[in-house]
Amino acid sequence: MFDIQEIRSQFSILDREVNGKPLVYLDNAATSQKPNSVLEVCHAYYTELNANVHRGIHTLSQLATEEMELSRRKIQKFINAEHDFEVIFTKGTTEGINLIAYILTQKLQKDDEIIISYLEHHSNIVPWQMLCERTGARLRVIPIDENGVLQLDYLDQYLSEKTKVVSVNQVSNALGIVNPIEKIIAKTRKNSDAYIVIDGAQSAPHFDIDVQKMDCDFFVFSGHKMYAPMGTGILYGKREILEALPPFHGGGEMIATCSFEGTTYAGLPFKYEAGTPNVGGNIALGAAVDFMNRVGHENIQNHENALLEYAQRQLLEIEGLKVYGEKAKRTGVVSFNLEGVGIASDVGMILDKMGIAVRTGHHCTQPIMNFFNIAGTVRASFAVYNTFEEIDRLVEGVKKAQRMLG
Ligand code: ALA
Repeated sequence: MFDIQEIRSQFSILDREVNGKPLVYLDNAATSQKPNSVLEVCHAYYTELNANVHRGIHTLSQLATEEMELSRRKIQKFINAEHDFEVIFTKGTTEGINLIAYILTQKLQKDDEIIISYLEHHSNIVPWQMLCERTGARLRVIPIDENGVLQLDYLDQYLSEKTKVVSVNQVSNALGIVNPIEKIIAKTRKNSDAYIVIDGAQSAPHFDIDVQKMDCDFFVFSGHKMYAPMGTGILYGKREILEALPPFHGGGEMIATCSFEGTTYAGLPFKYEAGTPNVGGNIALGAAVDFMNRVGHENIQNHENALLEYAQRQLLEIEGLKVYGEKAKRTGVVSFNLEGVGIASDVGMILDKMGIAVRTGHHCTQPIMNFFNIAGTVRASFAVYNTFEEIDRLVEGVKKAQRMLG
């Protein structure tokens, strides 16, 4: 039974006003709000449990360790990883991708190739460019068509024995386009020995994730976009790959032995978790997974798809409004502009005056904006707690912006 009011009642922040109007929060692709159950876990951690993990013989340290490791197992189940030690806690997707790009340095040499797509966030572009600078490898980019859909013929052309990495997102943050990662992974496996990296920042909040079925080598996502605190994220990597690759950060916790003559490294997952982790945040990420499991993946997807369909239909009735990726398969996001109406941020500011939070600009995806020859878009993005009435308010706000700016 899906009860939207019951779900909303779990998010205190949704009751607040912004600029004298009830808040309509439609910037979920940037970060989601956090349910009270997650906030309570954060508070309880610092009031009852705070201690460093894996280090102490004392009770609090042991309890904190148990809770964090329990959370790791919840996340293992959430993405269906084979082993809990394949789940590495990070600060977020950006750190996860940088980590992978760094530890692959020795695996690439001059003229090797890394394939990404036109739909990537800067965090799935720049770390690979930096890897190219370190190794002399080069970047190849799968283009999109006018609907924003990846042109997979190019992937067929690009894949070869030179391909060392294929890294694509499952869902585009700027347009919400769902990429055919099953096809991309199958083609990559068939035609190369490349490492396959999936950026799940915008898919983990919406989809049921199964990394074993997906058969990727790495899957990265952020906690804060799926109802958990900021500064939390996950890197999943296949056991044999993580075991064979070198560490990322050096420091405490990631060693087996350390002396001035040399250091040996700890096993998984600790080899990749140098330094004190965000213990409270990592435990709260487990509570966010509990929240999503309680609501149910099918309910989340059905509700968010219905919101997207409704929003797109209403918005397209506005004359001169263009939705980018209108005909592509999408989830969670509608990205648009009003023809002849200033810049996207002007629309965003008017919406904000009405209590409606959207993101405007290039969304850290300048190549996509360049492709469509625009500076930015207005992006409304949805979470499980959004309502059809909120979409009505968005549409009303966009019409008002058009009248004011047109
Ligand atoms: N990557 C986040 C977004 O798309 C911040 O808004």
